[in-house]
Amino acid sequence: MGTYIMNNHFPAYVLYGPGTVARIEWDREKKRVLIITDRGLLKTGNIKRVHKVFPHADVYGEIVGEPTSEMVDAAVEYGRRGRYDLVIGIGGGSALDTAKIVAALLKGKESVTAVFGKDRLQPRQTRLGLIPTTAGTGSEASINSIIKDSTDGIKKSVISREMIPDWVVLDAELTMSLPAPITASTGMDALCHCIESALSLNANDFSVIYSYHGMKLLSKNIEQAVAEGTNLEARGAMLLGSFLGGLAITRAGTTAVHALSYPLGKRNIPHGVANGMLLPWILDYNLPACQDKMMELVPYLDSKKPLAAAEDIVALTMELVKTLPVPKTLAEVGIGEECLSELAAEAMEQKRLLVNNPRSMDQEAVETIYRKLLF
Ligand SMILES: [Fe+2]
Repeated sequence: MGTYIMNNHFPAYVLYGPGTVARIEWDREKKRVLIITDRGLLKTGNIKRVHKVFPHADVYGEIVGEPTSEMVDAAVEYGRRGRYDLVIGIGGGSALDTAKIVAALLKGKESVTAVFGKDRLQPRQTRLGLIPTTAGTGSEASINSIIKDSTDGIKKSVISREMIPDWVVLDAELTMSLPAPITASTGMDALCHCIESALSLNANDFSVIYSYHGMKLLSKNIEQAVAEGTNLEARGAMLLGSFLGGLAITRAGTTAVHALSYPLGKRNIPHGVANGMLLPWILDYNLPACQDKMMELVPYLDSKKPLAAAEDIVALTMELVKTLPVPKTLAEVGIGEECLSELAAEAMEQKRLLVNNPRSMDQEAVETIYRKLLF
């Protein structure tokens, strides 16, 4: 029998359903409201929908690509000048991760680099609402923000329960225009969160509730959401699955997929693309260590063929990646053999994630996995 602590890291309110942005009922009285979003989202109707609820809100739309500490500090500075009392993050993981930091630091003097690490934040004094427009990172449910340190190019985390928002809106109508390749890669990130957290050595009776149900929703709907972007049902399931994945990793963590993904992220390969590529090979590597635990996933995975053995689950994920419009090899994203040992050395630095992996990994094993991804 294992021992564990159950935490209560959960947003106070979660509003789920199509069109629900219009029904936000919290913080409507706030006068100084800041919307933080990706630059790409500025011209979409999604910002207008939030503006209808908060007509006086200012919009900060300078988030481009994955956030750097410079980008986040600029957003924090903007927030401080406006003395906002509500921050709303709307967009993909980058916008949400930035909004979380802005809300946390707005009333203080620190820069983001001063709060990298665990539990370095003072109690948050600014209200925070998060509205994801991709079904992937689960940032709206997690205690992390991942930011690239502009001084050394390394992705670092701010980890604190102060990052948990006051409210979340999961409105699938906002995800309808997401292009198929991004739906696929972000969806694979979410699926990785659920599968990795379920197999994590840190999983417990509470975390698997989120992992399993998230996995069921994502596995059943990812292909449909990619093939038919306007399918509201599939989009809604993906958004909820992604949120549940965020809750799951907040409790059980991710494993080797994410550990090996970070060095690829450093080379500008999108997070979900890297994770999707790695998932089947990491499951294959982990097989000898967790066959029984993998078989527990069977009821939650959508498969046309019966999943009679853990090997069938590996094959299922391999097949899924093949059918989705995402790069499948390192060659396709411009990474060659000469990079492998450096990648492996960098992945070994992700000890925080590797300790959760059901089978231990040395640098040679990591390099072997990257090699399998080459072509
Ligand atoms: Fe992720």
